[in-house]
Amino acid sequence: MDTVSNKKVPIIFAHRGASGEAPENTLAAFSLGLEQGCDGFELDVHLSKDGEIVVIHDDTIDRTTNGSGKVRDMTVEQLQAVDAGAWFDEKYKGEVIPRLEEVFDLAPPEIVINVEIKGSCEGKLEPILVELLKRKGRLDTVVVSSFDWKSLKHLKQLEPAIKVGLLYNLNLDHHEHLPAAAGTEVYSLHPNMKRWEPKDITGPQAAGLQVYGWTINQAETMTEAIEMGMDGIITDYPGRLKALLKGT
Ligand code: G3P
Ligand code: CA
Repeated sequence: MDTVSNKKVPIIFAHRGASGEAPENTLAAFSLGLEQGCDGFELDVHLSKDGEIVVIHDDTIDRTTNGSGKVRDMTVEQLQAVDAGAWFDEKYKGEVIPRLEEVFDLAPPEIVINVEIKGSCEGKLEPILVELLKRKGRLDTVVVSSFDWKSLKHLKQLEPAIKVGLLYNLNLDHHEHLPAAAGTEVYSLHPNMKRWEPKDITGPQAAGLQVYGWTINQAETMTEAIEMGMDGIITDYPGRLKALLKGT
């Protein structure tokens, strides 16, 4: 029997791709997420020196490649010349830091993509992102999130149709009031919480917001999130969540 048959089925977001089993934020990790049945990707973006949006978590390439240096000081050609896979496992040697456009091209159109802005480079990234979303027809299927809520407000000013999500770490009551602090229309809340209560979900949902929790990797916590009716679960292990949802 389907263990969650009477529950809403959450969107499975592969966090930095299936990053528990493949090098984060690479095309290999996103492909593995698709193979495992994810519905969406979460990924992190920075701007290169020559104005290309690239997919990488840190503001330097040191941790996740065989190179070193700041992302914003390197051209996309330089960024793609380093290896972004072998640090994780030798079998992923040859993976590169993808351009955001390459991830859009890889993802089937129905895959939801949560783009997290890590470094907006003093407001230079936002107009480039808006242009890319329009050009790739991704305004409907991308949610842009950030801890920098000013960056999200900037995006909405540039393109009101864009969906934005608030990232935050705090344990809070009344999450539904957070969009007022952001000063812009908000599509989703992305809380990192140690302990969830049903009202953390139902309050925002009643206010018309989606709730996408992160980073939920253990089966027990996944089950709690499903039972509470979370709209989306951001996980390094999309295959594990898919199996849980299938009741296997
Ligand atoms: O989007 C949620 C989560 O990805 C934020 O934290 O450090 O994994 O980017 P981090
Ligand atoms: Ca992220």
